Amino acid sequence: MRISFLPALLGVFALSGAAQTSDKCPQATGAVASHSNCRCFPGDPCWPSTQKWGELNATRQILESCDPFMPVDSPCQVGAYVRYAINVTEPADIIAGIEFAKKNNVRLVIRNTGHDFLGKSSGPGSLSLWTHHLKDIEYIPEYKSEAYHGPALKVGAGVQGIEAFTAADKNGVVVVGGVCPSVGIAGGYTQGGGHSILMGKYGLGADQTLEFEVVTGEGKHVNASKTENTDLYWALSGGGGSTYGVVTSMTVKAHKDAPMAVAEYSFRTSTDDASMDKFYDALDFLHQMAPGYFDRGGYSFNIYSKGSLPLGYFFGPEWTKEDTAAFFQPWVERLESLGLQYSLNITEHPSHLAAYNSMNNPETIGASQSGGRIIPKGTILNKRAQFNQVIKNIVEDGADMLEIVAHPTLEVAGNPDNAVLPAWRDSAIFLIVAIPFNDTVEWSQMLEDQKTITKWGGLLRELAPESGAYMNEADANEPNFKREFYGKNYARLLCVKNRYDPAGIFYALTAVGSDAWTQSPDGRLCKTNP
Ligand SMILES: Cc1cc2nc3c(=O)[nH]c(=O)nc-3n(C[C@H](O)[C@H](O)[C@H](O)COP(=O)(O)OP(=O)(O)OC[C@H]3O[C@@H](n4cnc5c(N)ncnc54)[C@H](O)[C@@H]3O)c2cc1C
Ligand SMILES: *[C@@H]1O[C@H](CO)[C@@H](O)[C@H](O)[C@H]1NC(C)=O
Ligand SMILES: *[C@@H]1O[C@H](CO)[C@@H](O)[C@H](O)[C@H]1NC(C)=O
Ligand SMILES: *[C@@H]1O[C@H](CO)[C@@H](O)[C@H](O)[C@H]1NC(C)=O
Ligand SMILES: *[C@@H]1O[C@H](CO)[C@@H](O)[C@H](O)[C@H]1NC(C)=O
Ligand SMILES: *[C@@H]1O[C@H](CO)[C@@H](O)[C@H](O)[C@H]1NC(C)=O
Repeated sequence: MRISFLPALLGVFALSGAAQTSDKCPQATGAVASHSNCRCFPGDPCWPSTQKWGELNATRQILESCDPFMPVDSPCQVGAYVRYAINVTEPADIIAGIEFAKKNNVRLVIRNTGHDFLGKSSGPGSLSLWTHHLKDIEYIPEYKSEAYHGPALKVGAGVQGIEAFTAADKNGVVVVGGVCPSVGIAGGYTQGGGHSILMGKYGLGADQTLEFEVVTGEGKHVNASKTENTDLYWALSGGGGSTYGVVTSMTVKAHKDAPMAVAEYSFRTSTDDASMDKFYDALDFLHQMAPGYFDRGGYSFNIYSKGSLPLGYFFGPEWTKEDTAAFFQPWVERLESLGLQYSLNITEHPSHLAAYNSMNNPETIGASQSGGRIIPKGTILNKRAQFNQVIKNIVEDGADMLEIVAHPTLEVAGNPDNAVLPAWRDSAIFLIVAIPFNDTVEWSQMLEDQKTITKWGGLLRELAPESGAYMNEADANEPNFKREFYGKNYARLLCVKNRYDPAGIFYALTAVGSDAWTQSPDGRLCKTNP
């Protein structure tokens, strides 16, 4: 199918959908307090004076950036980092920051953990709203609304995965969060969709949301839920961070905790052709096993490159050690008949947190350039040979692969009306392709690597053109990001964006509405079509 349907559907989707409060799709005004088509940049006459920053600092705590990788005694360099940050402690800090940015035409950035792979939580010449210290956590044993009655957890915008898991664990419940303990939960993670060890059992992060407190682009602190500002609630549940407002808190469903089985495995071989055939055979067997655990809540991730899968993990909620061993037995037999070196270690844990903490956490931040695509179940099963061939081509080309193998269930969360990329609903494997950064190579090689990532993305797109890519772990240069990251939701999301942020104060690369702005090579952010 050729993909040119977005403009055609703009009108249709703008007006449809139960969550829409008004049937008019507003236009962005793009109004800023300046006649310039660009945000003011350090060094420009319009850049706020030291005195103005000082005035802001007198009422809100502001921090000035320096490159953290430079020696402490060297002169302060900023580069692509934000210029100043407000250390947010209350919603009023956010409102003041938005007002300051608008009044002075300064680029604004929302920053939580800074984990975003696409650099959406940074920006040259900007003021950031740093939400890290909004750490309140409240357990609500009996949350009651028309849509949901049960336990819930309310988390401040700065709460990180492990903090939420630990608070939930103390109350005998679990919440859906990322595989990395330091990823924020209410920021980019849930707002962008959020895949999880628990997704096969409870659904995606964005499927768990009950309400948000959020400061809109107009500087109003409001609630967004199934009954208040419903369109904003819809958009914040999967439609991307840094777009509609600054979330200050989020309330999500909590689920009863349960024991969990964990299998840690690895296999390797040498890299001659005959050995590699065996390697791909073992990998194919592993992939074909996956649909067998999807319906039983299972999840796994695999890290591999040519000739080696040094780390794979399976998590089986409410699976026993025996269940898991029986499930993996045919694979073990295959590995043995292929004569591959392997390891498999199955353990059982009394709770989600215990299982989570047993893991050797592998993923690092900012260690590689990466891209990826969601591979549907139908592709694995019905286009098996093509799928295997594409994997082989990319691996032989030198990629580091990371797969999230799970199918996000709709059984628990129901079929939530939210803005999650529809491709997630068919997902079997979310595949990430990466090339590690190498500090000793030339810049030109880095650019070559960037192109290679986009090329591999093209192979995956040809394999599963109907699918999409996960906005939080994607190639920043993904062609046609509107379709690939947001699917049919894009037009409707743009309406919500324009309604709650009419001045377009929130910008982040590949966010909804971001194509109205272009960052020039010097870092300056200017209107695309002045
Ligand atoms: C090591 C590692 C492991 C990961 N594992 C997983 C995983 O298991 N599952 C998964 O789905 N993803 C995973 N990710 C990706 C992760 O979801 C994204 O990096 C996500 O953007 C992080 O959100 P954050 O708020 O922590 O980070 P930030 O970089 O601070 O923010 C990310 C984006 O959200 C915006 N944002 C932040 N806070 C707010 C707010 N309060 N209101 C509005 N916008 C806000 C920012 O402006 C930015 O656009 C992982 C990332 C890393 C680095
Ligand atoms: C903000 O004020 C504090 C003291 O009140 C000062 O130490 C700090 O340097 C100021 N920061 C900036 C960026 O002006
Ligand atoms: C930011 O504010 C918090 C209080 O909310 C404080 O504990 C922390 O030290 C501040 N951070 C910096 C870098 O000043
Ligand atoms: C959201 O609603 C709750 C409950 O009605 C209320 O206590 C809270 O103040 C509201 N928050 C905002 C930002 O309006
Ligand atoms: C198996 O995993 C458990 C839990 O992570 C660990 O304590 C144990 O040492 C592992 N055993 C082997 C043989 O690797
Ligand atoms: C980095 O690149 C250099 C030069 O091309 C190479 O010798 C080295 O092995 C690379 N390092 C890593 C970790 O890939």
